[in-house]
Amino acid sequence: MKLQILLALFLRETLGESHRTVIGYIGENVTLSSGANPKWTLSIIEWTIYTNNTWIATLNNGLLKVEWVDRYKGRLTLNSSSGDLMIHGLTSEDAMQYNVDLTNTEQQNIAYKVDLLLKQRLKKPTLERTLLSAAKEGCQWQLNCSSADKVDRFVWHAETPYMTFNNGSYTVLLTFLNSTQSQVEFKCTSFRKSENASEVDTLECDYKPARDHNLALFTGGSALGVFLVFLLMISQTAQQQRTGLALAEDALTA
Ligand SMILES: *[C@@H]1O[C@H](CO)[C@@H](O)[C@H](O)[C@H]1NC(C)=O
Ligand SMILES: *[C@@H]1O[C@H](CO)[C@@H](O)[C@H](O)[C@H]1NC(C)=O
Ligand SMILES: *[C@@H]1O[C@H](CO)[C@@H](O)[C@H](O)[C@H]1NC(C)=O
Ligand SMILES: *[C@@H]1O[C@H](CO)[C@@H](O)[C@H](O)[C@H]1NC(C)=O
Ligand SMILES: *[C@@H]1O[C@H](CO)[C@@H](O)[C@H](O)[C@H]1NC(C)=O
Ligand SMILES: *[C@@H]1O[C@H](CO)[C@@H](O)[C@H](O)[C@H]1NC(C)=O
Ligand SMILES: *[C@@H]1O[C@H](CO)[C@@H](O)[C@H](O)[C@H]1NC(C)=O
Repeated sequence: MKLQILLALFLRETLGESHRTVIGYIGENVTLSSGANPKWTLSIIEWTIYTNNTWIATLNNGLLKVEWVDRYKGRLTLNSSSGDLMIHGLTSEDAMQYNVDLTNTEQQNIAYKVDLLLKQRLKKPTLERTLLSAAKEGCQWQLNCSSADKVDRFVWHAETPYMTFNNGSYTVLLTFLNSTQSQVEFKCTSFRKSENASEVDTLECDYKPARDHNLALFTGGSALGVFLVFLLMISQTAQQQRTGLALAEDALTA
């Protein structure tokens, strides 16, 4: 029996099984599997960290304890049958080597090491929509897709024709939706190495014939307003400030 365990240990060492690497993502949970033989009935589980083997989660005499270290308080779940340790809400400080020492009811003992590596998951890109124009023929929409992360590329997907302009850190989509068309989904996917992340926006041309008159007035009116303010800003710098300001106020109150 002893020889078998030694042999198993030796095999695990040579096959690198006693020393595993697990990847976790900041803010998420990770399960460090104990590596225990599923046939074993565990009587002692000791998860430790640091070279001085500080306990963080233990099972002893049927007693589960996971509050040994403040930093891990409320963030550990120890499965007493498998010996697996789950760490919740990962932070970058959790990246280190974890040791687990297992003893079964037949006093057999085995120990493993788990290296926890932490990564930051690729964030979803951000979509910013701009209605460029709206008329009874249809609407012109612009979508700007950008990422807080440095990404390799962006890819658009939509079930309607569109044009795109790429500019390293962001990509802009232009599309025309006619007013009889229902909602259309636009998906922007960012890629970084083997990861990808997507964001979706749903656009439509909310141009109702009944509101033709009002909307035309509204868009026309606001465009006129912008144009006036622009003109006045030019005149303001060119001519005396007082006249420009008075004109601007007139235009704004009108
Ligand atoms: C992560 O753990 C928390 C408990 O701390 C739980 O509420 C949540 O559902 C877990 N998330 C996943 C993806 O399992
Ligand atoms: C074990 O090591 C850690 C980090 O090196 C230290 O913070 C802790 O105080 C040590 N514990 C004991 C009991 O020496
Ligand atoms: C504990 O581990 C066993 C064996 O892997 C599994 O069947 C069980 O669902 C786990 N329990 C919990 C609470 O996750
Ligand atoms: C798109 O968004 C990015 C990031 O917010 C911004 O820097 C860029 O100027 C925007 N481009 C256009 C054309 O709106
Ligand atoms: C990307 O946009 C910036 C300003 O937003 C501009 O200076 C630069 O020339 C653009 N690059 C490309 C490749 O279009
Ligand atoms: C509006 O778009 C829909 C879907 O692309 C198309 O079937 C329809 O013919 C278009 N209508 C007009 C007036 O262009
Ligand atoms: C994006 O990543 C998921 C896994 O998160 C993968 O299943 C999918 O195939 C990837 N998509 C592309 C287009 O590579």
